Amino acid sequence: MVEAVRGAGVVVTGAGGGIGAALARRFAAEGARVVVNDLDADRAKAVAEEIGGTAVPGDASAIIADAREALGGTVDVYCANAGVGSGGSEAADESVWALAWDVNVMAHVRAAHALIPDWLERGSGRFVSTVSAAGLLTMIGAAPYSVTKHGAYAFAEWLSLTYRHRGIKVHAVCPQGVRTDMLDATGSAGDLVLRPTAIEPRDVADALFAGMAEDRFLILPHPEVAGYYQARAGDPDRWLATMNHIQQKWEAAG
Ligand SMILES: NC(=O)c1ccc[n+]([C@@H]2O[C@H](COP(=O)([O-])OP(=O)(O)OC[C@H]3O[C@@H](n4cnc5c(N)ncnc54)[C@H](O)[C@@H]3O)[C@@H](O)[C@H]2O)c1
Repeated sequence: MVEAVRGAGVVVTGAGGGIGAALARRFAAEGARVVVNDLDADRAKAVAEEIGGTAVPGDASAIIADAREALGGTVDVYCANAGVGSGGSEAADESVWALAWDVNVMAHVRAAHALIPDWLERGSGRFVSTVSAAGLLTMIGAAPYSVTKHGAYAFAEWLSLTYRHRGIKVHAVCPQGVRTDMLDATGSAGDLVLRPTAIEPRDVADALFAGMAEDRFLILPHPEVAGYYQARAGDPDRWLATMNHIQQKWEAAG
């Protein structure tokens, strides 16, 4: 139970389905007033109706003013959850890289730009970033996703270290596979590395609430990721060799 959530004004982007919808449901169940954002207006409206929230459809990069109005002037918690799966290599089209930067990183930067002045004035505010274990490690076959999720993690980390003494709390949520449309779209690479240990979207919401109760920055719905992250930092070449074995296994599976 996170007491500060009752009555709080909460925004969840990309909440028309998947992890975002699970976060929106959980915040509403804990007594928050929730703005449900998604590019897909119908899905945003359906979730908002279900939980008694307000739909603010559109690009996550440009909704703060409308969300604030819907919440009576103040956003207390902002969940930067909308993301794009963007697979491919260095040869992925520039437009694929640009979209990944825009949604997975710049939408977070723009939201923070709009929210931080008010949060500093009030001495409180909570920024929840749905990053990914790919932001700490990597994702086979998905360079734009891996690189931009590292960016999202770095930005969340920067926000946290810069503003934590001024009342702003930041959480970076870094799951591996979660059973959503995005996991379905990862194809054979996802089947190999994500699906075997995939969890449900509500498990991510549970992990976030457990982490918020302890004011923990790094939230790992798959606890084993902590060991992989340590292994990567402790011996990069060994870690890369292990990942390359997985890459070769994926190539062999065709
Ligand atoms: N599913 C996984 O295995 C997994 C693992 C780790 C991290 N994540 C991250 O979790 C977040 C949610 O993903 P999901 O798995 O629920 O995927 P999903 O595809 O089910 O949901 C993503 C939602 O974001 C919306 N969206 C996309 N671009 C948007 C934009 N510009 N503005 C507003 N909404 C937009 C989509 O319409 C969709 O409803 C993403 O950031 C993703 O990278 C997912």
